[in-house]
Amino acid sequence: MPNTEIPKLEDYSPRSLDHFFLSIKASYDKEEAQCGGIPEKIEELRIRWVGRKQGHLKSIVETCLKTAPAEVKSALGVRFNQLKVHIDQALAMASSDATILSTGYTTVRAASRTADSIDITLPGIRPGLGVEHPLVRTMNEIVGIFQRMGYSVGVGPEVETDYYNFEALNFPPDHPARDTQDTLVVAKQEHKSLRDRLLLRTHTSPVQIRTMERQPPPIRIVIPGKVHRNDAADATHSPIFHQVEGLCVDENITFSDLKGTLDHAMKELFGSSVKTRFFPSFFPFTEPSADVQISCIFCGGKGCRKCKHSGWIELLGCGMVDPVVFDSVRGKQPGYDPKKISGFAFGMGVDRIAMMKYGISDIGLLYSGDMRFLEQFA
Ligand code: PHE
Repeated sequence: MPNTEIPKLEDYSPRSLDHFFLSIKASYDKEEAQCGGIPEKIEELRIRWVGRKQGHLKSIVETCLKTAPAEVKSALGVRFNQLKVHIDQALAMASSDATILSTGYTTVRAASRTADSIDITLPGIRPGLGVEHPLVRTMNEIVGIFQRMGYSVGVGPEVETDYYNFEALNFPPDHPARDTQDTLVVAKQEHKSLRDRLLLRTHTSPVQIRTMERQPPPIRIVIPGKVHRNDAADATHSPIFHQVEGLCVDENITFSDLKGTLDHAMKELFGSSVKTRFFPSFFPFTEPSADVQISCIFCGGKGCRKCKHSGWIELLGCGMVDPVVFDSVRGKQPGYDPKKISGFAFGMGVDRIAMMKYGISDIGLLYSGDMRFLEQFA
């Protein structure tokens, strides 16, 4: 059995401390090599070096560390710890390699192992893959349907002026939607004229105006985005929700184009057996206006609790663009002449569609950030 002499520490200069510990490390490495990977020898090596009672490390603590003057203790301690970590790691490796060798089972592990290599046969740590939020997924799906019909995609600001959100869309000054009961407004705007006051957009329709101001007809665009209303949160209401707006302007655009486009989009979204029907409605910026209903996707139109036994579910608002809306952009884009062009617009709530598609009963879940809910979409 090799008998390592622990050298004497002559002085405490950094140089001799380094020398002292390096030579001990070299002795250990030499002894380990002499074990030839034989389990019994490695066990003896372990007892000889890290044995609690008489191991070399223990005697270094007793004879060198404890007796050293206070001012060099930390320099000694750092080097001692490095040595100890080296020996502990080397022993752990040597004994697992020894097991592999003694069972006659050699693998890359034994062959490639050095004191500080990694074990490439261990399973890696897989980073969790993120997925789209159900709202984003639904929004992308809707947008994709219109992209395939030749629509482009636009966006606009969430903090909007009264002008774009209401005035240019033909909302009269006293329209109830303008009330702070319905609309979240930015504070300290009173000094501005009404049209310049900032608010959180209540729908994506202001982007119709912004798009037409920038671009002459023809236009085919969908606008996905977040909107805000001063609504108390409950299972079906959230002060934040999402819409996809659509705008198509060209020569000879008719109400049947609107019907055909939305009927196709609903069939793409909910399946080809879904039917649509259009009911007269009112929006200040479309004339005529309609609410679109689809046959209930839960009961196929027979009537159930989800459709309140009517067989139909109301899903979106739409209509032919009111000529007064074209008038508000003609100063910037004379091409929007209602005598020459016409168009339709629509707006749908993404949250309701997502809730229907994925069977979500509480809109709040979409905004809670609760991983137990979100993980179900992975
Ligand atoms: N902006 C309307 C809403 O939020 C929806 C709509 C859009 C209606 C476009 C007609 C045309 O209720």
